Amino acid sequence: MKELIRAAFEARKYSYSPYSHFEVGAALECEDGTVFTGCNVENAAYGPSNCAERTAIFKAVSEGQKNFKRIAIVGGKKGESVAPAPCGVCRQVMSEFCKPDFEIIMAKTEDDYEVMTLSELLPKGFILDE
Ligand code: THU
Repeated sequence: MKELIRAAFEARKYSYSPYSHFEVGAALECEDGTVFTGCNVENAAYGPSNCAERTAIFKAVSEGQKNFKRIAIVGGKKGESVAPAPCGVCRQVMSEFCKPDFEIIMAKTEDDYEVMTLSELLPKGFILDE
């Protein structure tokens, strides 16, 4: 757990957030133990910005990984740390690939964090019923 949170803090260092100044890092652990990290990447047009969680998930999927166990998220303004909850878009993206018991670790420090499952954070995500 500590290691995954540490990896999220490392990823936060690469946050590109000149507009919000809110730096986010995420570390996604796959079922096979591989870890993919991500940071938020903002854009002058705001809309094209990408959250840290989705950066990590898209990196993983684009390298052939689709089975995920948990994700650690850290963030805050420069020099600060809160325990960020994932936005609604990221929760929906998680629901595409993750089971209801997927764990979301919202961490302020390596020792101060809250763990919630995807089904707790997104009880009724959209599923395309074909
Ligand atoms: N952000 C994330 O990367 N993850 C979250 O869970 C919440 C918000 C980013 C988006 C934007 O770059 C900045 O934080 C402020 O909203």
